[in-house]
Amino acid sequence: MEVVSGMDIKILQDRIDKELVGLDLSIHPRSLYDPIRYTLSFGGKRMRPVFLLLASELFGEDYEHALSAALAIEVFHNFTLIHDDLMDDAPLRRNRETVHVRWSPNVAVLSGDAMMVKAYQLISETNTPKLKVILDHFNKAAFKVCEGQQLDMEFESSKETSLGDYMKMIELKTSALLSVSLQIGGIIGGGNESDIQCLFELGRNIGTAFQLQDDVLDVFGNFEKFGKQRGGDIISGKKTYLYLKALELADEDKALELSGLLTNNDLSPTEKVESVSNMYELLNVVDAAKAEISNYHRMGVQNINDISTDSDSKLNLMNVCNSLMKREL
Ligand code: IPE
Ligand code: IPE
Ligand code: MG
Ligand code: MG
Ligand code: MG
Repeated sequence: MEVVSGMDIKILQDRIDKELVGLDLSIHPRSLYDPIRYTLSFGGKRMRPVFLLLASELFGEDYEHALSAALAIEVFHNFTLIHDDLMDDAPLRRNRETVHVRWSPNVAVLSGDAMMVKAYQLISETNTPKLKVILDHFNKAAFKVCEGQQLDMEFESSKETSLGDYMKMIELKTSALLSVSLQIGGIIGGGNESDIQCLFELGRNIGTAFQLQDDVLDVFGNFEKFGKQRGGDIISGKKTYLYLKALELADEDKALELSGLLTNNDLSPTEKVESVSNMYELLNVVDAAKAEISNYHRMGVQNINDISTDSDSKLNLMNVCNSLMKREL
């Protein structure tokens, strides 16, 4: 099989973008379908469908066979973003107004629902005798995303959340979809059971690294590139890696001060973000996060090495994982 260069990842992303813009969707009522087109047309890294397509090619299959499943995953991901932004009260996504702000919360709910239906329609169009298996994996992952999202919300008002709880929560809300993208790609491509297991583990490790990085970027990112509100997690009182690690590293007084800051409603959002991020800097939590991110990345690289196909076909997967470690958006 031909080695796909770094350039070809861009070709895959462009292809996904083009297919998403061309999706078969009705026009009326406009306030149901316009938000879907709006959400799908303004970029995003397309990391999950790229992973799915690359995993399908590992075993010599042409990625065209996996295209509708890849689109299904991306539409599903974008549905979760619309609902997530509503739940997180987020004003910005990919540098644009979020759907519930631009339209309304009700529109965000219903357009999101319709996208979930679209995702199922697309995945059912996958032309493979393994469709039932694929659907079972997809359903399992979709439940996990919901479970993770619910835990993420519950943690906002809990004082008991530990780093261990957080790690389990992000495995559900974020890694599950990455894992299933890679698994489904591998299944469509014809990988054996142990290779599919490596792909699942890769999703788990890279998903964890990815969410930790997302938590860092939420506070310390370049906001023109990141495209989300600076400090959104602090404003909504999220129990992120940074917050929980800071509590662990702080002495008793500092820990009390930090938890007081996160719940202090007398501070303006800007003041809260300023003071909490100063505390993070003081405690060097970003260094701790970076060390953890590299650990998970290293385990992901090992998962790729463990796949039984020739090393050339794994290069692209490796490239995408490496580029995610340097991401700013
Ligand atoms: C955002 O996902 C949600 C998280 C799991 C952190 P992405 O960072 O993949 O978002 P887009 O699709 O590239 O915008
Ligand atoms: C999102 O987690 C996970 C899902 C969308 C399921 P976040 O809430 O951290 O994602 P962003 O930062 O808003 O993209
Ligand atoms: Mg969010
Ligand atoms: Mg969220
Ligand atoms: Mg986030």
